[in-house]
Amino acid sequence: MSDFVDGFWSLYVAGITLLSVIACAVLLTMQHQKRAPGQAVGTTGHQWDEDLAEYNNPLPKWWMWLFWITIVFGLVYFALYPGLGTFKGMLGWTSTGQYQAEQAKADATYGPVFKKYAAMDIEAIAKDPQAKAMGERMFLTYCSQCHGSDARGAKGFPNLADNDWLWGGEPQAILTTILEGRTGMMPPMGAAVGGPEGVKEVANYVLSLSGAAHDAKLAEAGKAKFAACAACHGPEAKGNPALGAPNLTDKVWLHGGTLAAISEQIDKGRTNVMPAHKEFLGPERSRLIAAYVWGLSQPPAGAK
Ligand code: HEC
Ligand code: HEC
Repeated sequence: MSDFVDGFWSLYVAGITLLSVIACAVLLTMQHQKRAPGQAVGTTGHQWDEDLAEYNNPLPKWWMWLFWITIVFGLVYFALYPGLGTFKGMLGWTSTGQYQAEQAKADATYGPVFKKYAAMDIEAIAKDPQAKAMGERMFLTYCSQCHGSDARGAKGFPNLADNDWLWGGEPQAILTTILEGRTGMMPPMGAAVGGPEGVKEVANYVLSLSGAAHDAKLAEAGKAKFAACAACHGPEAKGNPALGAPNLTDKVWLHGGTLAAISEQIDKGRTNVMPAHKEFLGPERSRLIAAYVWGLSQPPAGAK
């Protein structure tokens, strides 16, 4: 409650809080009445439908007591916990303090476990069953919303379980991706390839690279225009992990492999962001997750 610039508002709020509690007590006392034995019960004086009257019975005792208990509880709470203006409470409790205490407890429990893995190679961590289980749990918590619980991705979110990488699949590259994040950026290329007709030609050429159905004549015309793309995708269109530029000759598509999807990608370009997790997860957790992710495509497909 350090938002208050001077003490007045703190006192003002604390005063109103206490006054409300006192007002409740006063109201309860005013409503407190006993019925003497044998005394007839009066009515409130309200009458409906000619002879329907409301009795003025005293409030039930258990009900009154509940209110008194609530008031006492409130006052004790205000004394112990922060609740009255800027008064911090006698226990000195804060939500930040509670969070830090829980954090410290978790660090004490998991710290030694993480330390053990911090000294190991990512390849070695990936073979450790305990580390793998921890990595998988953290992947499900922190990564699955984008990459899927089986890490197989979705349109725009890469499959991490295959052996096809935008930014490189070496353990260190994966760790860097997690820690620093990645921004895949392709500028709109429509104008550079000569407008809609050029886009169609280059798109057909791209389709031809992976052996997909395409118009051979358009593709032939598009081939020359691919020079505009080679700086990023490479002269043979095999991609460039330094830029996150995908290999266009395989059958793996991040944004769709139809003529329409490829044309749109060429015409409009795209910026695709993998957020950095360094601040959020720290190096030790990221290491375990990197090992888990790397392990998903090991041994590489085709290897014995
Ligand atoms: C908000 C969505 C989002 C979250 C959360 C997220 N990612 Fe990603 N990730 C992406 C996107 C989008 C890309 C593709 C970036 C690009 O196109 O260059 C990506 C790329 C990657 C890559 C590179 C893939 C390649 O082919 O090189 C790896 C590895 C990766 N993510 C791992 C993770 C891990 C591990 C986590 C959890 C700690 C995670 N991601 C959390 C969206 C996300
Ligand atoms: C400045 C670098 C750059 C240039 C130039 C460039 N691209 Fe790209 N391209 C990228 C990057 C980076 C991506 C990945 C974007 C992402 O992460 O989503 C990409 C993605 C693509 C995709 C989508 C692939 C998929 O898996 O869905 C296609 C198709 C493509 N580019 C074709 C082209 C063509 C054709 C040209 C030339 C007309 C071109 N690009 C020029 C960097 C470039």
